[in-house]
Amino acid sequence: MILLEGPSTISALVLEPVTGSSGVIVPPAGYLRGVRDLCTRHGIVFIADEVLAGFGRTGAWFGVDHDGVAPDLLIFAKGVNSGYVPLGGVLVGDSIHETFTQRPYPAGMTYSGHPLACAAAVGAIGAMHEEDTVAAAARLGTDILEPGLTKLAENHPCIGDVRGIGGLWTLELVRDRETKQPLVPLGATGEANAPMAAFIKACFGRGLVPLVLGNRIHVAPPLNISDGDAAIGLARLDEALAEADTFLG
Ligand SMILES: Cc1ncc(COP(=O)(O)O)c(C=O)c1O
Repeated sequence: MILLEGPSTISALVLEPVTGSSGVIVPPAGYLRGVRDLCTRHGIVFIADEVLAGFGRTGAWFGVDHDGVAPDLLIFAKGVNSGYVPLGGVLVGDSIHETFTQRPYPAGMTYSGHPLACAAAVGAIGAMHEEDTVAAAARLGTDILEPGLTKLAENHPCIGDVRGIGGLWTLELVRDRETKQPLVPLGATGEANAPMAAFIKACFGRGLVPLVLGNRIHVAPPLNISDGDAAIGLARLDEALAEADTFLG
């Protein structure tokens, strides 16, 4: 695509190192390194959107760390202060920083550098270091969520795929494991969405509030969740998934 469009027509490439809302797609090892190399070779600014993946969510400080690459710009929000106060920002690489040592940076916002939001970030990042949250997130993935969700897939024929990393996972519900036909069509509402609605109702009845996007259930608990609480959550998911199974032919 870069060659087709012409590298000089592309100023920047933006991607999430692990996609969040669009489906928790974990790239294979080497993918982000390849993107970095392509951007460097063609003079394209590489922007990593780490709003969702950053600050430990994937079991590394940032998603790009899984491939050991540095983007030119790194966008962050959410986890930077655990969401206690709205805060977002952009980390700037050396070459872009250099530009603005020679001339003013022409931007500003009403709440730029808001002291309360930044203090919450300092507090949250300090706690993440003290509690070794990033290592805990990696362990949450390898020791708790991957085996727990894989076991759910063994028990529930409606689960067509389990994927994720660290504390960011999704279950994809299907009608048929072979064809991977989604359990509900894209954008389904009303009767067409009955299987997911029944699943959500079963979760609510058990005190579990799931994030459901189409035919996917996202599993992204707090990174400091205890093993016991994670086990309770998985057990409730197990019960609620039985509702979705009843819609299979
Ligand atoms: C990957 C990603 N980028 C950007 C955003 C938007 O972030 P904000 O609401 O902080 O502007 C979101 C919000 O959910 C997101 O998930």
